[in-house]
Amino acid sequence: SLPKQVKIVEVGPRDGLQNEKESVPVEVKIELVNRLTSAGFQNVEAASFVSPKWVPQMATSKEVMAAIQRKPGVIYSALTPNMQGFEAALAAQADEVVIFGSASEAFSQKNINCSIAESIARFEGVAKAAKDNGLRLRGSISCSFGCPYQGEVPLDAVADVVGRMRDLGCDEIDIADTIGVATPRKTQAVMETAIRAFRLDGLSGHFHDTYGQALANIYASLELGIAIYHSSVSGLGGCPYAKGATGNVATEDVLYMMQGLGIDTGIDLDIVVDAGQFISQFLGRKGASRAGNAIAAK
Ligand code: HMG
Ligand code: MG
Repeated sequence: SLPKQVKIVEVGPRDGLQNEKESVPVEVKIELVNRLTSAGFQNVEAASFVSPKWVPQMATSKEVMAAIQRKPGVIYSALTPNMQGFEAALAAQADEVVIFGSASEAFSQKNINCSIAESIARFEGVAKAAKDNGLRLRGSISCSFGCPYQGEVPLDAVADVVGRMRDLGCDEIDIADTIGVATPRKTQAVMETAIRAFRLDGLSGHFHDTYGQALANIYASLELGIAIYHSSVSGLGGCPYAKGATGNVATEDVLYMMQGLGIDTGIDLDIVVDAGQFISQFLGRKGASRAGNAIAAK
């Protein structure tokens, strides 16, 4: 049977916006985060403390974190590739820091400019500092289902990085389909591998929807008991280091499916739809959520 309850981590303000070419004003980012927390998300990825030369759009993360309305109980997460990022996240009062690695050697080099082994060594300091400061620690594993540079990614490579993230003390580990290539049976094979290496209730599915498979892959993961999913309002996003990758699965679509399945998320879909319309209007394009557009048109 499927989980009765799932946690949806809204990653639109980070994964969604990081790929936007035009700079999105701080006030718009703040309003987006506030609208999302008012919808009931318990976890929002709001910031990324990476090199502004690599990802210019995230350069205002400090200002965003300083001005959002903090809702009690909500976990505001920030990406932290190294100690410099960690110090910035700590100063910005992030509740959770995210170390992000890859199951693909080639992608690791392109995305964070080091090998998988070097990244794990770098993350050790971040992980220890997170624990010392009482912050939650999450590990994200890109290209768990395929890589834009090397193609196939062996299950063993995923198992290995999950084990390393576990040993670093991660509270949660994201199995990410950076380029949206997975299909349901493949998803289950990778997730079963991850489940053998980490607690089921700490694993999350982070699916991009490039090939239109994300909802099917989420359903396949639900069948295995995975109960944490990442999504972006209005399907925003992509990854600057994965050419052609589209956004994360749209939050509205995920919520609509969960409602239909009778799975509790604690989130008000109508408020998310409004938030999706808000950001889409700002960006000057139609939102990428099918459910969101259908509900908004009513
Ligand atoms: P590097 O060039 O190897 O690092 O980059 P470095 O330590 O040699 O530093 C070089 C310069 O960057 C220095 O500045 C540092 O101060 C600065 P300079 O002296 O040249 O003026 N720097 C920083 N500035 C701000 N914050 C920092 C920071 N660190 C160094 N934290 C680094 C290595 C990791 C920093 C770089 O490669 C980088 O920033 N990469 C970011 C990649 C990224 O953000 N990708 C998108 C997010 S991951 C993603 O989207 C995937 C995910 O969604 C899951 C999925 O879908 O797969 C999570
Ligand atoms: Mg992503």
